Amino acid sequence: MKYQITPSNTFTGTHSVAPDKSISHRSIMFGSLANGVTRVTNFLEGEDALSTLQAFADMGVEIHRDGDKVTIHGVGMHGLTAPQKELDMGNSGTSMRLLSGILSAQKFDSTMIGDRSLSKRPMERVAKPLREMGAVVATTGERGTPPITITGNQTLNAITYDMPMASAQVKSCLLLAGLWANGETVVTEPEITRDHTERMLRAFGYDVAVKKLDKGNEIRIKGGGELVACDIEVPADISSSAFFMVAGAIAKHGDVVLPKVGINPTRTGVIDILKLMGADIRLTNEAVVGGEPVADICVKASELHGIEIPLHLVPLAIDEFPVLFVASACATGKTILRGAEELRVKESDRIQVMADGLATLGIDCTVLDDGIEIVGKGGAQFVFGGGEIDSHHDHRIAMSFTVASLRASDTIIINGTETVNTSFPKFAELVNKAGLNVEVVE
Ligand code: S3P
Repeated sequence: MKYQITPSNTFTGTHSVAPDKSISHRSIMFGSLANGVTRVTNFLEGEDALSTLQAFADMGVEIHRDGDKVTIHGVGMHGLTAPQKELDMGNSGTSMRLLSGILSAQKFDSTMIGDRSLSKRPMERVAKPLREMGAVVATTGERGTPPITITGNQTLNAITYDMPMASAQVKSCLLLAGLWANGETVVTEPEITRDHTERMLRAFGYDVAVKKLDKGNEIRIKGGGELVACDIEVPADISSSAFFMVAGAIAKHGDVVLPKVGINPTRTGVIDILKLMGADIRLTNEAVVGGEPVADICVKASELHGIEIPLHLVPLAIDEFPVLFVASACATGKTILRGAEELRVKESDRIQVMADGLATLGIDCTVLDDGIEIVGKGGAQFVFGGGEIDSHHDHRIAMSFTVASLRASDTIIINGTETVNTSFPKFAELVNKAGLNVEVVE
């Protein structure tokens, strides 16, 4: 599938962007393991979250979905049953890494597989600490990559683990395994990472202790407890909103309102970075929904300038860098990102793939081991030329270059756009309503 996008210069209106992917995944996991019935509203009907839903259905959980409303009949901590076949995680790293923790503690054996992109992603980062807990986990791909095969019926013991990288997926995997482990599992993170797991554990009545360290947090959880079903309203996804925020800022006529977006402080790096670049962003109607803060985000056309991105904001904006690179190309002066080597092991190598695409569209950028330098074209009406971009089947690359059409002189073609359905199924429809000219070519 590809997008063929002719230039436009207007991005306006009030738009409800896709529901949060991280929270949608976790609502299925905790709902399935809880005692009682969990009702989820505004669930993300994207392929990634649906992979998680299907995996739990395959392990005997009764789950009913009516559009974005999901009812989960929890089976309790010991109620999952052996799947009849391999669990297919599709494109979803979150599903595979978090489920590794859960499956390691089950009585049955299991195997998880993924698509071409997921099959290239590193899984030893979860397998290694799980083995320290007593799990039997094999990453059977070529280089510590999927498929993952887990031998069940092991006794797990709590460990203290200092994560070598700032990863919410690794942290969550270990906290989940810790639910069944003997003793208290302790995980420390080198920088703050998203804390949806900790918040949702508490929402389901499970005690988690969090202590602030110098940079990241130390999280403690005791095994052997129970989860109590609760209702979850999923906020709009700040990562999906990021495409609309940058579009609103770089458009000549930009003025958008994005209602009820999750503004959990572990996810708001994109707002801080865009503000540092001079973007006109305001938050209104702040509220708390199901333990997660939300707000309406208002963005207007802005004169952006290049910055050196502060290191502590990197994990807080980790999924938003592709579109922040597009914003940087539209800024005056240079933008420098460092400390972001994790971008190389996302759905694609997001540093190289973005650099290649930016170069195709006429942007001067230099790839660094752990980041990128981008020379912005600031005040120019046309920042980008036209061209054909390979998204490497990475949803966030595809959506980022779509937004570039607001400052392009010619048509942009983006190949491999089918993966947009993993996180934002209505993306093309919604951006066209806001003013873009995206034609979806099957
Ligand atoms: C996620 C954590 C992040 C993020 C991913 C979702 C999560 O990954 O990039 O899209 O839901 O826990 P890492 O843990 O690898 O940083």
